[in-house]
Amino acid sequence: MPKIIQRYVMSRPLLEATGISHSFDYPLFSDIHFSIAAKQSAAIVGRSGSGKSTLLHIFSTFLKPNTGSVTLFEHELYTLKERDIEAFRRYDIGIIFQFHYLFKGMSAMENISVATMLSGESIDRKILKKLEIDHLMAHKTSELSGGEQQRVSIARVLNKKPRIIFADEPTGNLDKETAELVMDVLTAYIKEHDAALVLVTHDESMAERCDAVYKLEERKLEKRV
Ligand SMILES: Nc1ncnc2c1ncn2[C@@H]1O[C@H](COP(=O)(O)OP(=O)(O)O)[C@@H](O)[C@H]1O
Ligand SMILES: [Mg+2]
Repeated sequence: MPKIIQRYVMSRPLLEATGISHSFDYPLFSDIHFSIAAKQSAAIVGRSGSGKSTLLHIFSTFLKPNTGSVTLFEHELYTLKERDIEAFRRYDIGIIFQFHYLFKGMSAMENISVATMLSGESIDRKILKKLEIDHLMAHKTSELSGGEQQRVSIARVLNKKPRIIFADEPTGNLDKETAELVMDVLTAYIKEHDAALVLVTHDESMAERCDAVYKLEERKLEKRV
């Protein structure tokens, strides 16, 4: 691919959402605009119940909004066939929740292997080292502490080599030092892999580490300047 075109493609947003509105029992938010490019991180903050998780679900293929459009990797997301959406989930999207979902009877390594097998990647020991869990790989999930389990689940996501990461309170249950380590790893990952990070967090100090901070308040998403 000629350099100039490559640069053009690189500068296109990985995710672009326009005019997003959604309600459940009552209107949650309306006319939301958001975009993020490769190597960028954005935090979304806001009070509990303001709709942060819902917005993340809309951005990440899991919920079609009432109105508006979501363009992911230059594809209008909610017009795609289910098969294409599943391929995005399997290969291109990484999702990290506050509570991990590991297979309890399996070792840490087996848990990570399941994900890499599905996405056709191999395990990157560097990521395990950076997360300080490489020495725990033979342990059963049930033998690990909560913080260790959370880092195994993050390793599982990163080893898929996603192009965009959606993280919902990923450091909510971690001590400060481990939370900082996880943020270090996530921000390094997106720079190295031309990926993007969309982070929902309560924690101001985590939010401030992102390139942009958005606040969901009174049904609007405002970029903090
Ligand atoms: N699937 C759903 N069905 C009905 N109401 C929902 C659903 N998901 C979320 N809600 C409601 O939408 C509001 C926002 O929820 P959520 O997006 O989880 O907020 P936040 O993540 O900011 O705490 C809450 O009042 C919640 O009860
Ligand atoms: Mg939430």
